[in-house]
Amino acid sequence: MKLVKLIANLGYGSRKQVALMFREGRITDPQGEVLYADDAVAHADVRVDGEPLDPPQGLLILLHKPIGYTCSTKDPGRVVYDLLPPRFRLRDPVLSTVGRLDRDTSGLLLMTDDGGLLHRITSPKANLPKVYEATLAQDFRGDEAAVFGSGTLMLESEKTPLAPAGFEALGPRRARIVLVEGRYHQIRRMFAAVGNHVETLHRHSLGGLGLGGLEPGAWRELGEADRAEIWNTDSGVGVPLSR
Ligand code: URA
Repeated sequence: MKLVKLIANLGYGSRKQVALMFREGRITDPQGEVLYADDAVAHADVRVDGEPLDPPQGLLILLHKPIGYTCSTKDPGRVVYDLLPPRFRLRDPVLSTVGRLDRDTSGLLLMTDDGGLLHRITSPKANLPKVYEATLAQDFRGDEAAVFGSGTLMLESEKTPLAPAGFEALGPRRARIVLVEGRYHQIRRMFAAVGNHVETLHRHSLGGLGLGGLEPGAWRELGEADRAEIWNTDSGVGVPLSR
């Protein structure tokens, strides 16, 4: 790929704007030699204003989503993209969230520009456990584990029952829930179906990957070892609960 396209695709500007950056001598190699728009140079050997380029296509980000942010690009309020460098919003291919968390849910959220990877993680075939912790408005009534684990719970306006989900009470109004699917407002609707109301909801893990001490609002790029953790469901992070 021509350098001008590669840099424009990373969100540094339109091709016209990036062409101007070349003419201004802002794009160089690591030794400071000026590069030209049609040069074919490895990503790692390009500097913009002396700084290495943003990560190449194939980016995977782990974000600790705080409450109050939506996973949309269009919402007029706070969106998860506001927590990343502004350029990341302009990348082509686009950086998308891997599934969604509601505005009022906090916790582990992945974002990627790799459509194949996104599909592999979210596909029902992947069967990846997602572990949440919820606090409820009312005490548990006692049959939640049986109802959620039954594989027959039908939520309003759904055509198929929910896959069995894990439930473990951590207190009278606090529970760990394990899902292997991700329907719209699923946990909130599951608790509504048993006459309760979710007050707080936090996602701890996806597959074998946890937040690992990442603070709310913070993010980091995931390398190969972290990526492998997603599929490592024996790691103990996302152990399915007994039902
Ligand atoms: N279930 C919900 O209700 N909300 C989320 O954000 C995730 C799971």
